[in-house]
Amino acid sequence: MNTTTELMRSHSSVRQFENKPIDTALLNELVACGQAASSSSFIQAYSVIRVVDREKRKLLAQAAGNQGYVEQAAEFLVICADLKRIAYCCEKVDAGDLEGWTEHFMAATIDAALMAQNLMLAAESVDLGGVFIGGIRNDLQTVSKCLELPDLVYPAFGLCLGWPVKRNDVKPRFPVAAILHQDTYDIAQIADHVDRYDTTMSDYYASRQFSSKATDWSQQAARAIQGKTRDYMLDFIQQQGFLLK
Ligand SMILES: Cc1cc2nc3c(=O)[nH]c(=O)nc-3n(C[C@H](O)[C@H](O)[C@H](O)COP(=O)(O)O)c2cc1C
Repeated sequence: MNTTTELMRSHSSVRQFENKPIDTALLNELVACGQAASSSSFIQAYSVIRVVDREKRKLLAQAAGNQGYVEQAAEFLVICADLKRIAYCCEKVDAGDLEGWTEHFMAATIDAALMAQNLMLAAESVDLGGVFIGGIRNDLQTVSKCLELPDLVYPAFGLCLGWPVKRNDVKPRFPVAAILHQDTYDIAQIADHVDRYDTTMSDYYASRQFSSKATDWSQQAARAIQGKTRDYMLDFIQQQGFLLK
């Protein structure tokens, strides 16, 4: 369609980076692009922690399940859902405490994710590459302590950014017909779409240039979702002042 849509459709996560920095002015511009995303009621409920300290990087790489690129990437950003500023503004205008409503948790989480994806896309538009790091949620106590996060802030995921050594093949997504429903949710087509997509993905995994393997989407996705329950999460999120009611 156009260069923007081509860029979007060429996304693949990058996990190997050149040993070359990202200019600070460029990084600031990328964050500004992230901030240009829409925001629920314009509350802008996010913060980004840029981690430059080498010891902290090492600790975070370990906390994320020993993901070496957290250390090696030119930049590692921790994307936080952040209600701290909005709590201050409520106090400032005498609008009461936030009280930990589930709706506010969702608004902050969605804001943070939209901002981060805009940031990633901006980075890809200047030939940088990156990968989001949900692995930091393996150990959010360690991450929060390391970054000295206050209440009303939680680290949603990380983002490695750098100049790519290699780019992975683009992973085929579900056909649009599986995702785009009309008027009502079409439950009848799920099995058919998943079965056909499993064939697409098993062909893709078998034939891809790097790390080919015999698997399909169902096997991968089921293992991923069932292997990541992170059963401490509700306690941690509540400790930070979210999801109290
Ligand atoms: C919120 C989020 C967390 C992720 N966490 C990790 C991670 O911890 N480690 C990793 O290698 N990839 C991670 N990824 C990248 C996904 O594995 C990747 O986006 C997915 O396999 C699709 O591949 P693609 O991005 O190359 O198209 C994460 C992606 C998202 C959106």
